[in-house]
Amino acid sequence: MKIGILISGRGSNMVALVDAVKSGEIPDSTVAVVISDKANAPGLEKARERGVETVVIERRGRTREEHDADIIAELRRRDVELVCLAGYMRLLSKDFVQAFENRIVNIHPSLLPDFPGLSVQQQALDAGVKISGCTVHFVNEDLDAGPIILQRAVEVKNDDTAETLAARILEQEHGAYVEAVRGIVSSRAAR
Ligand code: GRF
Repeated sequence: MKIGILISGRGSNMVALVDAVKSGEIPDSTVAVVISDKANAPGLEKARERGVETVVIERRGRTREEHDADIIAELRRRDVELVCLAGYMRLLSKDFVQAFENRIVNIHPSLLPDFPGLSVQQQALDAGVKISGCTVHFVNEDLDAGPIILQRAVEVKNDDTAETLAARILEQEHGAYVEAVRGIVSSRAAR
């Protein structure tokens, strides 16, 4: 399966996916492109080091639809079949979701539907939950709301800060994202 990955920053989930494709843990797949909406995203260099083509498409004052149209064109040009959002910090337009219906996935650092949006770990600490985690889900037009593919739980410790909790959840995210994409690839190959 041809995979395209969208990032805005660090790119550790992108690296986990790229490495899993390279090792064959995600079989019969290639990462065709990594696209960032930020020219200074540290993940861009990590993708290039791994020999993956990168493209920067900044918003530059355009509408969401105009910006997304450029991204869709780059994905289509490479026949991308599955779009993985990996720390991509922008909501997708309706056009984007429809162009890749049921073929866009995201990872979010909470057990959705709890704590969508930003400052997720602080939301979990403020709510006093004892279990949080991460969710891989299909993307629809609502924020952090599409059908859930899989989740992994992480214990919240009494002395956790948003940073320590985020770090332990991130460790689980990488394996969860690889497992989810591997599952999608094998279920679509079986069709
Ligand atoms: C991760 O916590 C992910 O769940 C969220 O943004 C963060 C991105 O981290 N959507 P990275 O760029 O993959 O390292």
